[in-house]
Amino acid sequence: MRKPLIAGNWKMNMTATETEDFIDQLLTNKLPDDVEAAVCGPFTSLTILSDRAKDSGLKIGAQNVYFEEKGAFTGEVSAAMLKDINMTYVITGHSERREIFGETDSDVNKKNKAVLSVGMIPIVCVGETDEERTAGKHEEKVQQQVTSALQGLKEDDVKELVIAYEPIWAIGTGKSASSDDANAMCEIIRDTVLNLYNQATAENVRILYGGSVKPATIEDLMSKEHVDGALVGGASLKVDDYLQLLAGA
Ligand code: G3P
Repeated sequence: MRKPLIAGNWKMNMTATETEDFIDQLLTNKLPDDVEAAVCGPFTSLTILSDRAKDSGLKIGAQNVYFEEKGAFTGEVSAAMLKDINMTYVITGHSERREIFGETDSDVNKKNKAVLSVGMIPIVCVGETDEERTAGKHEEKVQQQVTSALQGLKEDDVKELVIAYEPIWAIGTGKSASSDDANAMCEIIRDTVLNLYNQATAENVRILYGGSVKPATIEDLMSKEHVDGALVGGASLKVDDYLQLLAGA
């Protein structure tokens, strides 16, 4: 059985002070046992989050990492640095990193290897543009991104992996994919893992949907066979919304 995961991606939001307020307010509530809750904050929030969330069951993740071990890479943060402050997850391949910062499929693959090498779990993002969907190329695009992101990864690592299907046209637009479309694409991702590995691996890998997920849409989304959770931007920034997402998952 795959445990549902609701992961917040705060993007470049939340100062350290705002992070303290969020986590203190969140942890006055009991988090559900049957849903995994995670928050991926900006680097400046991570120590606060991991210190305060200790023993709460809330998992903390980073939004980026550099794949080299250490050295003269000004401004970058390594996987070992993130592991050392108790990160569980690292988001890789988000479309904003690909589009704005020019990350390639090969970068994403190297980042996944770096994250796994220190015992953290990548949340690997894939998804098509509006033009690719209109041209009927969305399935091919996502298959290709998954294949490239997983290249050279061991079966045992892939089993623990999280993959997030985030159609670019749905991110921050208020225009979510329908739950059926989300499910169909998550199934394609699972089939891609099946073809690359085997049934046990495909059944174990968790596949999330991301793109304008709101408390009002989470239950319908989670009722779908291949959707194991959500990667949530805007609606993860308010404690009440985030709690509603967890309750609806
Ligand atoms: O990674 C989450 C994401 O890109 C979706 O953002 O604001 O549409 O929920 P949002």
